[in-house]
Amino acid sequence: MNVSRRALLVTAAGAAAVGPVTEASAAPAAEAGRAETGGRAETGATLRTLSAAADYAVAKVRAVAPRVTGFPVGTRFEKWTYSRGGDWVGGFWPGTLWMTYLYSGDDTFRARAVESARNLAPRQTDTTTHDLGFLFYPSWVTAWRLTGDDEWRTGAIRAADSLIRRYNPRGGFIRAWGALNDTANAGRVIIDTMMNLDLLAFASRQTGDPAYLDIAVAHAKTAQRVFPRPDGSTPHVFDFDPDTGAPLGPATVQGYDASSCWSRGQAWGIYGFTTMYRRTGDTGFRDTARRLADYAIEALTPDHVPVWDYRAPQQPYDVKDASAGAIMACGLLDLHAATGRRAYRDVALRILTALAETCLTRNSARAEAVVARCTRNRPGEDGIEISLPYADYYLLEGILRVLRPADVDRAIDLSQPS
Ligand code: GLY
Repeated sequence: MNVSRRALLVTAAGAAAVGPVTEASAAPAAEAGRAETGGRAETGATLRTLSAAADYAVAKVRAVAPRVTGFPVGTRFEKWTYSRGGDWVGGFWPGTLWMTYLYSGDDTFRARAVESARNLAPRQTDTTTHDLGFLFYPSWVTAWRLTGDDEWRTGAIRAADSLIRRYNPRGGFIRAWGALNDTANAGRVIIDTMMNLDLLAFASRQTGDPAYLDIAVAHAKTAQRVFPRPDGSTPHVFDFDPDTGAPLGPATVQGYDASSCWSRGQAWGIYGFTTMYRRTGDTGFRDTARRLADYAIEALTPDHVPVWDYRAPQQPYDVKDASAGAIMACGLLDLHAATGRRAYRDVALRILTALAETCLTRNSARAEAVVARCTRNRPGEDGIEISLPYADYYLLEGILRVLRPADVDRAIDLSQPS
């Protein structure tokens, strides 16, 4: 990180600069006026900002939920558009309802979460996508953890059974896209899949069968080998020969190009590798998460809202993806818990503060989402600075990780390796 860039890494509110994440900067900083349990960014003002954002999210979801007719996939001129079957995002609306339930204690949210999650049932046996973790973890695993009702647990395990069918043992990877009998994309691996592995860890714990976690670990080790570049950035895609398992090289679909760094993909990687460390105790996964995190922190613009691709030609003055910020903040909070390095928590708090101050839909009575300024697929010219359901979900998860960590632990299991 060059010094001028480092000096620019300030909070949206103009607080202290963020330095590189070193042992020294990770040391506890007991500064007057700061929360004792938190880092340098954890002031009372920050916590009030995050509480106000959570209050806003709860009020918005309460107002909008009665007219939600399916699984929100993104907004068109501020109104949700829907998928009936859930697309890859169907876990996030029930997940958001679970988070609003935990924060508010209002049983109406709980009932809506159950109703929405049930509509994902047909996807348990879907073998055409890797997205089963996105679909079933924040919805059904959380439902099981919060209700104890066994239908959710068995359904999530069934979804894990579908996911492991996509494992290619020759290359040691879970195929991302396409039906099993479709040769197109058969060797295509994407960084996003790191987020689907926790469903497999869950299935191994619940069944006592190590096969699920073994596949998750094999995939994560492959991803660890091929995705991170020496500077800690990642491409969106890596292709293999599906027949021999031989690596072919990086590519992209949602990033700028094969040598760029799509910010949401980088955030999936930070969060996913940290989770795999927590589920396995393999410190190599934690080290990889750190490399990805350090790159993304350095690439953040002073406003702490990620550009859609850290290496697109127009960055740092390019369109934003607030969803990348929300996901990255959750990953950094987890990485702080996994490493003890306070600077990760500080940056996470600054990102969440920036999202709360500059990305909420507050000024629009028309808006149905909580978070604005997200970008779905810039190269596809599809959804530029719109709202996306995963931004709402991860913003709430991130804020609750700060304000209500025990509740988030109940919902998604934040346990550290023993
Ligand atoms: N997992 C797809 C995306 O992040 O857009």
